[in-house]
Amino acid sequence: GDEEAQQAFDELIERDQRIEPRDWMPDAYRKTLIRQISQHGHSEIIGMQPEGNWITRAPSLKRKAILMAKVQDEAGHGLYLYSAAQTLGISREEMMQQLISGKAKYSSIFNYTTPTWADMGAIGWLVDGAAICNQVPLCRASYGPYGRAMVRICKEESFHQRQGFEILLELMAGTEAQREMAQAAVNRWYWPALMMFGPPDDESPNSAQSMAWKIKRFSNDELRQRFVGMLVPQAEVMGVTLPDPNLKWNEERQAYDMSPIDWTEFHEVLAGRGPANHERLRRRREAHEAGAWVREAAAEYARKQAERAEG
Ligand code: 3HC
Repeated sequence: GDEEAQQAFDELIERDQRIEPRDWMPDAYRKTLIRQISQHGHSEIIGMQPEGNWITRAPSLKRKAILMAKVQDEAGHGLYLYSAAQTLGISREEMMQQLISGKAKYSSIFNYTTPTWADMGAIGWLVDGAAICNQVPLCRASYGPYGRAMVRICKEESFHQRQGFEILLELMAGTEAQREMAQAAVNRWYWPALMMFGPPDDESPNSAQSMAWKIKRFSNDELRQRFVGMLVPQAEVMGVTLPDPNLKWNEERQAYDMSPIDWTEFHEVLAGRGPANHERLRRRREAHEAGAWVREAAAEYARKQAERAEG
């Protein structure tokens, strides 16, 4: 009965083993995974836009090729994640409807604009850096298809992070105007990147249960703190300044002290009032509608193949 199934599930979690699609799982576990994995997939898909914006204007052929590869990786991550969510019983169509109707959440970070080439550097360094910090522990998530998807995704994210670091490094070795452009981009993306980790622990409704289920392994604040610790030495190498005058190592706490985060901004962006929310959804909707004929053709092709197979 259900009690036995629940016990088997609890034991798998307790022993750090994996839950697979055909295993029994509590409804709330299924629901929270669908929520997190679909939001994560949507973030990758919407995340193609701020950088896609620069593909036609990349400063060299080499930069263009790298940027195209990165944006394609993001498409791949999105599809991987949608497939992982589908193993839990939600359809691709339903997820897409949730996204284009504006009902689904996706990461706040992709609602910021990319006015200069240096934003490509800052996104790679800060946004993909934050993504790695958050996602490496997710490789051990208790749900098998999600954890396994994360392994490949994290490898590609490290390439993304390095290409961003390298863009900024090169700009910082350039002219005064290039250094200023790099620093301005870091100033724009630093705080929004810290917000990617989610609300502070005492305001994070899902954390406790997700940690008990071993979906999340660390809290939002723990990962945010780890991220800042990773950035400080890298900023020094590049010669950029992290835009927080109160950022300081605290020997006693063995952690960085920092200025409070402007959570009002975070909530505004989540409510749809960030700098580019409207534009991101509009573009996504247009792309979905423009792609209707591809979906129809693919479905028709599949139907004909099946008909032929039946003889
Ligand atoms: N942007 C938008 N929504 C956010 C958010 C953010 N930065 N941080 C938290 N939220 C939402 C949560 O989704 C949750 O909403 P819901 O309950 O309505 O679904 C609510 O705020 C409360 O937050 P919690 O801390 O309780 O939620 P979680 O326990 O789910 O933790 C999380 C939030 C840490 C983002 C977690 O969901 C997670 O680790 N997700 C997987 C990683 C991910 O989605 N990354 C996306 C950005 S990185 C990326 O896409 C890669 C790049 O290369 C394109």
